Amino acid sequence: MQHFFYVFTLLSTIYHQGKFYHSRFISIMKKIKVAIVGVGNCTSSLVQGIEYYKNKSEKDAIGLMHWDLGGYLPGDIEVVAAFDIDKRKVGKDVSEAIFELPNCTVVFCKDVPKTGVRVNMGKILDGFSDHMKNYEDKHTFVISDEQEASGEDVINVLKESGAEILINYLPVGSEKATKFYADCTLKSGMAFINNMPVFIASNPEWAEKFKDKGLPIIGDDIKAQIGATITHRVLADLFNKRGAKIERTYQLNTGGNTDFLNMLNSDRLASKKVSKTEAVQSVLAERLDADNIHIGPSDYIPWQKDNKICFIRIEGKLFGDVPMNLELRLSVEDSPNSGGVSIDAIRFCKLALERGQGGILYGPSAFLMKHPPKQFTDDEAYRLAEEFITGENNISLKILPELVPGINENK
Ligand SMILES: NC(=O)c1ccc[n+]([C@@H]2O[C@H](COP(=O)([O-])OP(=O)(O)OC[C@H]3O[C@@H](n4cnc5c(N)ncnc54)[C@H](O)[C@@H]3O)[C@@H](O)[C@H]2O)c1
Repeated sequence: MQHFFYVFTLLSTIYHQGKFYHSRFISIMKKIKVAIVGVGNCTSSLVQGIEYYKNKSEKDAIGLMHWDLGGYLPGDIEVVAAFDIDKRKVGKDVSEAIFELPNCTVVFCKDVPKTGVRVNMGKILDGFSDHMKNYEDKHTFVISDEQEASGEDVINVLKESGAEILINYLPVGSEKATKFYADCTLKSGMAFINNMPVFIASNPEWAEKFKDKGLPIIGDDIKAQIGATITHRVLADLFNKRGAKIERTYQLNTGGNTDFLNMLNSDRLASKKVSKTEAVQSVLAERLDADNIHIGPSDYIPWQKDNKICFIRIEGKLFGDVPMNLELRLSVEDSPNSGGVSIDAIRFCKLALERGQGGILYGPSAFLMKHPPKQFTDDEAYRLAEEFITGENNISLKILPELVPGINENK
């Protein structure tokens, strides 16, 4: 009997992406099937990243917050459906569409094998801003001639694909389009990750719809790995902890990708400004008057392409009311900066699906998003997210404020 046990243990150890696992993990080594809306620069980085990390091991994988998250590795993610509206992307295999113009992000994994998944024509709605017609094709979206999808078409594609999670990477200001795809997600019975700043997870009405259907949701507006938001928040926290008073601050951002081109239309910016500003306000010791805080996308500079440059200035007072100021310049490739964060969001959603947990995932949303339904300090958000992985916290909305004093709630 003992011998049988040893042989069984040996046989039940399997090799998976550079690691040996015991059979108890076999059941969770399934693929995570995702659908993506918007095959732009962020999707390009995400899809490249999924392939890139397949060829890595835990030791040589740079740039991830988690190698193994709840038994899932980055390479376990599989894109099974995609939607776009650009004629250079619609109809192409996802592995090719991600490299089509106007995408301009860095290519760090050029050999992405064919996925067998064609990019479907989506529904345009307000995904396309009229001002974008005034730019050369190589810089802007070019609408496909294919017939637009109806809600029913989108739901059919999602259901047939077997996707479990839909990831929203639409342009800023796509209020109607985001709600359209969120509704299709609900009707298809899938989880939703809202990486852009139309408020869905942080809109109680929408969050309730996901809760009612028992479907997990993470959002809103992805917080890049080392981006302007997290850097600004960490600096604000430093001032708090060292007893310095912040009196004024700005964060100016420039870039040359379609995200920045789209944001030249100030009518589309309202929620982006709220999301970015609130991400900083929520960690200040004392909220600043609107006149003393300016945070936003600031200009479109085509030659910068996907390189984003951020300038942060903080003015304040130290010991004895003596004035000081701090200036920082951050230069990052914008889209890979969200890739690893997305890879984690996908795995958090998968864990929730496995556990049958629907509604807002508070800890992961606070850790990964700029405008979560509940803001926490970054340390608390990190702790809550880590506890979510081990299954320690399944906190409910009601007990949250008592758990973490001083948290701010996004309305
Ligand atoms: N880069 C980051 O780290 C980061 C951080 C936070 C938020 N975001 C947000 O993520 C979103 C995506 O960013 P990106 O740089 O990939 O943008 P992008 O402009 O490169 O891609 C947007 C894609 O959406 C497609 N699209 C437009 N309308 C559509 C519709 N109705 N249906 C289907 N597809 C449609 C476009 O053709 C394009 O391919 C933006 O809202 C951005 O603000 C990005």
